[in-house]
Amino acid sequence: ARVDKSGYKHFMAKEIAEQPSVLADALRAYLDGDTIRLGADIDFARIERLTMVACGTAYYACLTAKYWFETLAGLPVEADIASEFRYREPPLTPGTAALFVSQSGETADTLAALRYCKGRADRVLSVVNVAESSIARESDVALPIHAGVEIGVASTKAFTCQLNVLLLLALKAAVDRGRMTEAELAATLGELRGLPGVINAALDRDETVAMAARAIAEARDVLFLGRGLMYPLALEGALKLKEISYVHAEAYASGELKHGPIALIDKTVPVVVMAPRDRLFDKTVSNMQEVMARGGRVLLITDAAGAAEAGGDVWRTIVLPEVAPVLTPILYALPAQLLAYHAAVAKGTDVDQPRNLAKSVTVE
Ligand code: G6P
Repeated sequence: ARVDKSGYKHFMAKEIAEQPSVLADALRAYLDGDTIRLGADIDFARIERLTMVACGTAYYACLTAKYWFETLAGLPVEADIASEFRYREPPLTPGTAALFVSQSGETADTLAALRYCKGRADRVLSVVNVAESSIARESDVALPIHAGVEIGVASTKAFTCQLNVLLLLALKAAVDRGRMTEAELAATLGELRGLPGVINAALDRDETVAMAARAIAEARDVLFLGRGLMYPLALEGALKLKEISYVHAEAYASGELKHGPIALIDKTVPVVVMAPRDRLFDKTVSNMQEVMARGGRVLLITDAAGAAEAGGDVWRTIVLPEVAPVLTPILYALPAQLLAYHAAVAKGTDVDQPRNLAKSVTVE
């Protein structure tokens, strides 16, 4: 079927706006009441280790899922970039399942990594958008993300839909491994069902994000910081910004600031801090103070409690609705996408077809 922009200026804007509805579609596909139905029998109690492999944005979805699998399910996870994994010949210990994440299902490095794991891993799983793709066909179990066709080269709805399915897997793993009760699962699923509505509220912050983005677009370098679940989101935010606005952006785990990147801070380098008010927030406030003491401008993406605690010296704040900590990666992807989008629009770049990039990288 032909896909058009249905009134949006760019496919990327349309795909960002579609997220509440495609996420809801995916939940309908995977949930039967408060039971997670994967369409295949995967018993995480019998899996000892999970190796996740992907490229680009899909790799950042894997890094996020590593936190979920380890914290919720106590399942050890290794996440790697496909181009590194495939040539390292990593030994796979018995009990290892391999999980590949790919929007297109055709990325050459990811497919090669999958073929390496066939016969070596106990089971080969994939999380894909294109259900008839090579990666889906060659997996023992392929789980669709239900994002619909994604045209913009910079991945948006595929990322949040990948996170959605990976979170469902981590929740199933938590229950299978006796780390979560059915009642706790039901409570979390209840919050997850509410997320599309919360994301709609976050989309209303569009103009605030656009104002910040116009200033970011003038910078030469931008730093993104995050801790815990927000670290992979900082990586994704920096990737989106450089992909489509060509502003140089780097992401660091907040705790690494003092080990190098702080040397770059001056008034010309905006620092985007992604930090809901969680148990690590105090540490993030100290990091922001270190930045501000050197003249750095902090753009804080947080919730109301975080905004109140951060104090008045922050350059700009984007306030998101408060959600259960486990759901923050899906919600915080939205401002990261919008920031990059509006910076690119401000610079007048080709948002949907950025220079030198391809939607699907089927050659090495
Ligand atoms: C390309 C795209 C990225 C994408 C990556 C992995 O570089 O431009 O947006 O994240 O490939 O693609 P995949 O289809 O495997 O998710």
